[in-house]
Amino acid sequence: MQGLKAKIDDATNAIRKQYTRQPKVGLILGTGLGGLADQIVADAKIPYGEIPHFPESTVESHAGQLVCGTLKEVPIIAMEGRFHYYEGYSMQEVTFPVRVMHALGIDILLITNAAGGMNSQYQLADLMIIEDMINLMGDNPLRGVNDDELGPRFPDMCEPFDQKLIEIARQTALEVGLPAHKGVFVAVAGPNLETRAEYRMLRNMGADCVGMSTVPEAIVARHAGLRTLGFSIVTDMCLPDALEPVDIEKILDVAAKGGGRLSQLIGALITRLD
Ligand code: HPA
Repeated sequence: MQGLKAKIDDATNAIRKQYTRQPKVGLILGTGLGGLADQIVADAKIPYGEIPHFPESTVESHAGQLVCGTLKEVPIIAMEGRFHYYEGYSMQEVTFPVRVMHALGIDILLITNAAGGMNSQYQLADLMIIEDMINLMGDNPLRGVNDDELGPRFPDMCEPFDQKLIEIARQTALEVGLPAHKGVFVAVAGPNLETRAEYRMLRNMGADCVGMSTVPEAIVARHAGLRTLGFSIVTDMCLPDALEPVDIEKILDVAAKGGGRLSQLIGALITRLD
């Protein structure tokens, strides 16, 4: 079987035929963030199907393409559509695009997601800057033989999200008048939502938001030496003693509202990242 490094090279070479700029930022767009992709002045939009070794997106609401260009003049690559573990991809597949964006030259990864809010102070459509994370997915993208060229066998995790970037995000949120919490994100495998007992456990563990993504990408980003900033949009409240059945339509509505806010924040933030 072809090694990971060779696959990354294949994918990078294919993208380089359409896009020659050196990107500074990689952006993973979660549910509700589609509007942000439209703000990127694109040099190229490359469907995942045209990139060697990229898994194909199975979620219909996601376009499944890399948008390569600039946002407020900052060179950026955005993933419009991401791969979730619950869709059946391996952790290595889920995180392959992060490896490729790293190989293309990004040094900052921005990860966004839609998540359930377990902190009772939070409200629907609120934003949370991810300060730390808990991996409860039961798997790890770094499992298996380690390629020392890609990163260390035992990456340090004392700061998975970059403190300096968190501070820039917090300051920017204050200045543009968009309230943003700072909290802990826990990832579960999904695809079912959690039981009341599980929400109670996750909250007691110290998590503020729960979702089914982001942690694998953040682990690989850390492994690759990228600086990472993560945001959650609170799309449903997960308070065990006041839990209501999920309504996916409502979650998408809230995601769109929170996504509008987060797009505004990222637009204001992007020129300040360094
Ligand atoms: N649990 C897990 N993932 C989620 C949730 C949730 O409640 N809401 C949005 N994504």
